[in-house]
Amino acid sequence: MLKPILIHPDPRLKKSAAPVADLSDELRTLADDMLATMYDAPGIGLAAPQVGVLSRLIVLDCVKEEGAAPRPLAMFNPEVIAAADEKSSYEEGCLSIPDIYAEVTRPAEVEVRWMDTDGKAQQEVFTGLWATCVQHEIDHLDGKLFIDYLGAMKRQMITRKMVKLKRERARERA
Ligand code: NI
Repeated sequence: MLKPILIHPDPRLKKSAAPVADLSDELRTLADDMLATMYDAPGIGLAAPQVGVLSRLIVLDCVKEEGAAPRPLAMFNPEVIAAADEKSSYEEGCLSIPDIYAEVTRPAEVEVRWMDTDGKAQQEVFTGLWATCVQHEIDHLDGKLFIDYLGAMKRQMITRKMVKLKRERARERA
């Protein structure tokens, strides 16, 4: 089932999400729904707070190559346990901030630990777009958006745009 995606500014996007203590069928269904919502958008990552659930769960699939097999990942309680000194910059976007893109600099390589949908601990080193995406999604669990890396002026301009967009969408629905 597709979930509506919250648009910035929304207080739920600024909150810290709670760790998942016990995996339930409800949470597994949520992970499936989030993946479906992400592919439908389309996007390469989505965090639970973006669909209004304040639990530490993210989904991502950064396979870009045409015809390559998809790699849907659902991570509970994801954590960056090591980050390279080397940085890389990507033009980032976010499903909660539609049609806005800006360059963000982050560690080029990160090692991430998480719990998979079977409750098993997983650990992997991510590079390239995967590294950027997983850091962007984990930030969401701490109430942080990619525009928080930009200057105050730029951030305010984007926020005003989003307020306007939300107003227009509300009007269309009315
Ligand atoms: Ni995002």
